[in-house]
Amino acid sequence: MKKKINELKLTLPALSANEGAARAIVGAFCAQLDPTVEELADLKCAVSEAVTNAIVHAYDTPGGPIYISVALFDDRSITVVIRDRGCGIADVAQARQPLFTTGADGERSGMGFSVMETFTDRLLVRSRIGVGTRVTMKKCLS
Ligand SMILES: Nc1ncnc2c1ncn2[C@@H]1O[C@H](COP(=O)(O)OP(=O)(O)OP(=O)(O)O)[C@@H](O)[C@H]1O
Ligand SMILES: [Mg+2]
Repeated sequence: MKKKINELKLTLPALSANEGAARAIVGAFCAQLDPTVEELADLKCAVSEAVTNAIVHAYDTPGGPIYISVALFDDRSITVVIRDRGCGIADVAQARQPLFTTGADGERSGMGFSVMETFTDRLLVRSRIGVGTRVTMKKCLS
């Protein structure tokens, strides 16, 4: 059975300034597993999309909590969980479709979940209206 070898837990307010911070912190933490440049870039992109979603879509007023946890395993897999206590997603299957967006005209492209799916090995989205959204991503390093 795989064993957890290290863990990061982080809470940040949902502010646009924290997208870059979350991306950099998660990237720096995961670097200890010596990922390839491409693996690390992919993971950071996926994290960035999930955190951006929590910042942009979850809360009516900015600053609600975003909970990030990263676990590193001895089989070189990484699990990243990004959770908010925001508005939730009415239809997760629909939200995951490429180009689906509730963003205002031209403001967003509806590609965030597709990017997360492409750049990780597994994407799990759980959401409840009025309770929040939890995005779990798994990445297996070479
Ligand atoms: N954390 C969240 N809380 C509430 N709604 C969300 C959350 N994450 C995603 N959504 C909903 O799912 C839709 C699809 O998300 P996705 O990231 O794929 O596209 P987008 O954010 O609209 O556009 P893009 O990511 O390309 O800028 C969003 O438009 C939004 O309605
Ligand atoms: Mg998005």
